[in-house]
Amino acid sequence: MSQPSKSAKLLPIALTVIILILAATTVGVLLFLANQPVQTRGIPTLVAIDPLEPDSSKWGLNFPNQYTSFLKMRENVTRTQYGGSEPYQKVEADPRLKRLFAGNPFSKDYKEDRGHVYSLQDVRETQRVNEKTPGTCYSCKTANAPKLWVEMGPVEFAKTPFKDLGQHIDQPIGCANCHEAGTMRLIVTNPALEAALKEQGKDWRTFTRQEMRTVVCANCHVEYYFAGPEKVLTFPWDHGTTIEAIEQYYEELGFSDWQHAESGAAMIKIQHPEYELYTADSTHYKAGVACADCHMPYVREGAVKYSSHNVRSPLLNPAQSCGACHTDVDYVVARVGQIQRQVATTMSASEDALVAAIDAIAAAAANPNADPALLDEARRLHRAAQMRWDFIAAENSMGFHNPEEALRILAASIDLARQAQLKALQAVGGGTIQARR
Ligand code: HEC
Ligand code: HEC
Ligand code: HEC
Ligand code: HEC
Repeated sequence: MSQPSKSAKLLPIALTVIILILAATTVGVLLFLANQPVQTRGIPTLVAIDPLEPDSSKWGLNFPNQYTSFLKMRENVTRTQYGGSEPYQKVEADPRLKRLFAGNPFSKDYKEDRGHVYSLQDVRETQRVNEKTPGTCYSCKTANAPKLWVEMGPVEFAKTPFKDLGQHIDQPIGCANCHEAGTMRLIVTNPALEAALKEQGKDWRTFTRQEMRTVVCANCHVEYYFAGPEKVLTFPWDHGTTIEAIEQYYEELGFSDWQHAESGAAMIKIQHPEYELYTADSTHYKAGVACADCHMPYVREGAVKYSSHNVRSPLLNPAQSCGACHTDVDYVVARVGQIQRQVATTMSASEDALVAAIDAIAAAAANPNADPALLDEARRLHRAAQMRWDFIAAENSMGFHNPEEALRILAASIDLARQAQLKALQAVGGGTIQARR
């Protein structure tokens, strides 16, 4: 038998090598795909993103759909009945706010919020920032924060003056505020949230993905205060996240943000407690719905499905925001309007009651014969009443996130404000109901 030619001998070897290479490549590709988050399958990772990379455009190279929808926030300028993205001046729209915030910078500058891409510009332009403002104010405004917290530590970050810290900051809110580079999983980036959860015996690393689609917003959309001389960002959650639990926390600490210029009461300024109001057993929260379900709905472009990163009022795209779960979108949108109108009316009654309380306390304080104990009691009631009103007023959904809880809190506010008014009248010998002759 003649020997097979050299090439004929090499053929099976070459084939085997090719098959092995193909097999290895296939396994590699499959492993790569298996490690990708579901919705990004098929989009190849092009560049390595540095951990904590502040610049969203660099992440955008790998995730063009998310990045493009994120940039769309720039175009959001529409105002809705009670929200939207037009940064109008609230103290001009409702002059009662000037009285309610007398002595606080919010009486001068209190604008409607808008998209995340504007966060840096807006915090630098607000008249509420001055020479004494601590760096803490940058905590929720920039994608530079997570890296700076690691590099400087949260205490150094907080106590560095706003203008000095600003030298290290050039990005608005971005990918690094919510995602871990590499894995792209949702993470808690704010040390204050990490600490507040820990205080309640919770570790976000054990949370489900659906829970994280809400908790990631709690990095910023919460009530907070600046603790101690170093002004460290702290969430007042040790006793829980209801308004009563938060009040108890501040009472025990003897904390106040400012002294009311007219009533003299020691006041608390509530920030945007969207997370706290929403998670206080709202219908949607109890049903397992997350913030991202309404504010970052899935959208489809061709064959790809991804989370819209154009975070805004869901009333601007209800078909996507509500339509995933509700078949009658027109009905639920109309319900939002009804709920918000009812909450707005009750909130207005609460503002009237607060203004009446402030008038009565200021008049009593100007009277040298006023009973100081009753006057003090009136001021404590003013603090409690306004803290409740502000919890709903500073929350940005006009009650929609939790209608029952919003109305419950506003009712308590009105009651406390009228009690404050009555105590102030009693302090100067009035306010008792005269028996009819
Ligand atoms: C069931 C849907 C739904 C869920 C869940 C939800 N929201 Fe909303 N959110 C709304 C609606 C509706 C509004 C009112 C928008 C308006 O008035 O234009 C709103 C308003 C807001 C606003 C103000 C928007 C604006 O236009 O000024 C913010 C901020 C916000 N939500 C954050 C959150 C956060 C944070 C969570 C989770 C803790 C959350 N939302 C959960 C539906 C939802
Ligand atoms: C305010 C928080 C937030 C910011 C900022 C943010 N994301 Fe996301 N991102 C989310 C949430 C919430 C999801 C949904 C995650 C889930 O369902 O597990 C998500 C999902 C994703 C996914 C998974 C696929 C998808 O679409 O669901 C990718 C990729 C992604 N984001 C990329 C980015 C990029 C790139 C940036 C910056 C340009 C960015 N994200 C900024 C909150 C954020
Ligand atoms: C790093 C802090 C941060 C995180 C995380 C964050 N937000 Fe915000 N959010 C802000 C700030 C600050 C503003 C106001 C920006 C402005 O007005 O300049 C804002 C504004 C908004 C608005 C108003 C947009 C508009 O056009 O009126 C909505 C809605 C909103 N956020 C929802 C969410 C949701 C939902 C999440 C979680 C998926 C989230 N945010 C996560 C800080 C944050
Ligand atoms: C992820 C699913 C989901 C999304 C998205 C969603 N909802 Fe719902 N919604 C629910 C569930 C579940 C209920 C509770 C239904 C029940 O228990 O009868 C509910 C209930 C409601 C109710 C009745 C609440 C009550 O107490 O009477 C209204 C109004 C409503 N949703 C409006 C909206 C609006 C507006 C949007 C969009 C901004 C929206 N929902 C988005 C799941 C969703």
